[in-house]
Amino acid sequence: MKKRLLLTSVFIAVCTGIFAQSDMNQYIDKLMQKMTLQEKIGQLNLLPGNDITTGAVMKSPLGELTAKGELGAVLNVKGLDKIRALQEVAVKKSRLGIPLIFGQDVIHGYQTVFPIPLALSCSWDIAAIENSARIAAKEATALGINWAYSPMVDIALDPRWGRIAEGNGEDPFLGACIAQAMVKGLQGNYGKENVMACVKHYALYGAIEAGRDYNTVDMSKVRMYNQYFAGYKAAAEAGAGSFMTSFNLVDGIPATANKWLVTDVLRNQWKYDGFVVTDYGSIKEMTSHGLGDQMTCSALALKAGTDMDMCSNAFIENLEKCLKSGTVSQADIDRACRKVLEAKYKLGLFKDPYRFIDKKRLQKDLYTAENRAAARQLAAETFVLLKNDDHILPLQKKGKIALIGPLGDNRSNMVGCWSTGDIPEKYSTLKEAMQRAVKGKAVVEYAQGCNIYADETTQKGATFGRPIPRVNDAEAQKEALQLAQRADVIVCAMGEMAEMSGESSSRSDLALPDVQMQLLQKLVALGKPLVLLNFSGRPTIMKWESEHVPAIMNVWFAGSEAGDAISDVLFGDQMPSGKLTTTFPQSLGQIPLYYNHLNTGRPVAPRAKEYQKFQSNYIDVRNDPLYPFGYGLSYTTFSYSDITLSGKTLGRDGRLTATVTVTNTGSRDGDEIVQMYTHDPAARVARPVKELKGFRRIHLKAGESTQVSFEITPELLKYYDADLNHVIDPGEIEVMVGPDSDDRNLRKSTITVL
Ligand code: BGC
Repeated sequence: MKKRLLLTSVFIAVCTGIFAQSDMNQYIDKLMQKMTLQEKIGQLNLLPGNDITTGAVMKSPLGELTAKGELGAVLNVKGLDKIRALQEVAVKKSRLGIPLIFGQDVIHGYQTVFPIPLALSCSWDIAAIENSARIAAKEATALGINWAYSPMVDIALDPRWGRIAEGNGEDPFLGACIAQAMVKGLQGNYGKENVMACVKHYALYGAIEAGRDYNTVDMSKVRMYNQYFAGYKAAAEAGAGSFMTSFNLVDGIPATANKWLVTDVLRNQWKYDGFVVTDYGSIKEMTSHGLGDQMTCSALALKAGTDMDMCSNAFIENLEKCLKSGTVSQADIDRACRKVLEAKYKLGLFKDPYRFIDKKRLQKDLYTAENRAAARQLAAETFVLLKNDDHILPLQKKGKIALIGPLGDNRSNMVGCWSTGDIPEKYSTLKEAMQRAVKGKAVVEYAQGCNIYADETTQKGATFGRPIPRVNDAEAQKEALQLAQRADVIVCAMGEMAEMSGESSSRSDLALPDVQMQLLQKLVALGKPLVLLNFSGRPTIMKWESEHVPAIMNVWFAGSEAGDAISDVLFGDQMPSGKLTTTFPQSLGQIPLYYNHLNTGRPVAPRAKEYQKFQSNYIDVRNDPLYPFGYGLSYTTFSYSDITLSGKTLGRDGRLTATVTVTNTGSRDGDEIVQMYTHDPAARVARPVKELKGFRRIHLKAGESTQVSFEITPELLKYYDADLNHVIDPGEIEVMVGPDSDDRNLRKSTITVL
C-alpha cells in the first residue's frame, strides 16, 4: 500500500492556526527524509493554472507534473472545483501526497473590491485597511485560495510608473504601518479564513528609472535603508509568510539573485523566516538582464536565498544539473524545500489539504452585505477633495444634475487594476448609484461626452479587458454640451481607465487626455457649478483644472462599491476625509517630486515667487507641488493650536509628547488626519526637510475640540548613517504638527536630543 504522509497519524499541532516550531521541524525533517531530489526540486516550482479544466486535470501538463510531485504551488486557478481536482491529484496521486498551495493576486478585496491600495493609503485608516485585508482573505479562502500576492509595499516617487497604484504612496512611515496592517489582516493566525501574505516586490521596484516598468534601479544603500526599506522590514517583522523578489536590478544584480538583498538583509538582518518566491518569470528574465544562461541563473537565484521559482520553469529544469556541476549544493536545495514545506505546514495543509475548500462558504462568505458596507465606507474615506470653491460640494439633491464623462456609466472600470476576483455585472455604475441616491428628489442625466483617448489604438492599449464604448467624439461632445446647458450642476467623471495604472501601464504624459480636456474646458466655460471627479491610479497633472475647475475630487478606483461611495460623498451623506499620500506635481518635468526630499546646498524657499539663478530650481515652474503630501479638504474646517511639549530635552532612554488641540471650526461633523513631522537639521548624513513620524485619524463634532498627542522617542528619530548604523545625533530636532506637509499649515516647535 502506498504510504501517504497525510494519512499517517503524525501528531500535528496545526488546526487552529497555531503551531509549535519544534513540531513543525520534526514533521518536515521526517517528510524530507522520504523525498527524492526531484521531489524536493518539485516543491520549488510554481506554475500558472489558468487553463486547467475540472474534468481533464489529470491529463493536463499541470496535472501530470503534480502527480509526479514536481509542482509545489500553482497560481490563478479559479473555481473551487478546479482547485479541489488539482489538490486531489497532489494528495492522492503523488508519491508523498504533499498538498499544493494555491496563489492569486488578491490585492484589494476579492469579489467585494476595495479601493486600489494607493487610494486605501489616502484614508490613513489603518484599522479599516487591516479589516479590508481580512475581508479579502475571507472571500479568497472561500474560493479555495490560500496565498495572496499582497501587500505591495514599494515606495514610489514617480507617477509615470503605473504600479504606483498598487502601493501606499511615497512615505516610508505610513507605508510601514500599512504593510503591517495588511499582513495582520491577511494572515491573522493562519486560520481557515486567512491567506498567507506575500510581500512584494523585494526590493526597490518603485524606483525604476523614468517610470518605465521593469526598468533599471540604482541607488545608494543609505537611501535604501532610510527611504525604501521600511515597508519590507515592517512586513517581515509582522511575520509575513512569504516575500516576492522584484524584477529590477539592485546594485547591478537582479533582485532574485541578489544574495545581499535576500539573505544578508532580509533573512539575517531582519530575521525573516518565511520563504522567498520570484516574481513571474524573473529567472527567465535574468538572461535578458545579462546574467547568463538559465542554468547559471537558476544557480544564482537559489544561492542568493530565493526558494521558489514563479513560472520560469528554471529550477525544475536546471537545479539537478546545477547540483551535479557543483554550482548549488544539496543544502541549498534542502533549505529552499524546507521553507516551502514550512509554509504548507503553517497553512495547515498537511493536516487538511482541503482546509480551504468548503462549498458552504461559497453561499455565505462572498460579496456579503457586511463586506460591501465595509468597502463602501472605506471607499468614501479614500476620496481626496482637492478643491471646493464656493462650497459647491456637497451637492443638493434637487434640480437637474448632468453627469458627463467616459467613467460615468461604466461597470468594469470602477474597480481598478488587479481586481482578479471582481464580478462587474453585480456592481453599480456611478450613474446608477447617483440616480438611486437622488430618487424622487432630483434628476441625474448622463452623456458620455467623449472617449478616453481620441486615438482608438491608444485607448485599446489601455483597455485590457475593461472596455469603455467608443463614441464619435464630435457628436458625443455636442450631446454632452446640450445636456449640460439644461442642467443646474455638472458632474464630470473623467480621467484614466482602470488599466491605465497597474503593471505595464507607464505613461509619459499625465495630463487629462486631450479629448477629455477639450470637453472639460467647454463645460467649464458654461460657467455653471461644476465638479470634476478625477479617476486615477496615480497622481495626474491637473494644473489647468486646479486653476479653472471650481471643485475637484480625486476618486481613484474605489472598488465594487465605488458608485455608491462617490454618491455618498457627492451628496454629503459622508464627509470627504482622505489626504494625499503622494505629492501631486504641477508639471511632468518636476517628477520625481516628493515631500521628504533633501535640502540641496542651494535650496529655494517654498513658494518662492520667481526663478533664482544659481539656486536649485527651474526657469519655468516653481519647485512647489500642486497639492502636497498629506493634503485634502473636508466639508468642514479644522484649526490647530500651537504645540505643547511635555519637555524640551530627550534623553537616550527618554520620551516626550507633543500635543496640539484640534478644533472642528465648521458646521458639520467630520474626520481629520492629524500629522506629525520632524526634521533633523544637523546630522551625520543629510536628512529630509521633513519626515512623517506620527498621524491620527480623529472624528470631531462641529465645534468640538480634542487634544492629539504624539510620542517622540529616540527610536522614532533614528536613521541609518553612511555605515548603515541606526543612529541618532545629539542636537536640535524640529517638530511639526498640522493638517498636511505644507509649511504654512504646520505648527512648529523644537526639542533637543541629549
Ligand atoms: C507581478 C506580480 C504578481 C505576479 C503574479 C507579476 O507580473 O509583477 O505583482 O503578483 O505577476 O500574478
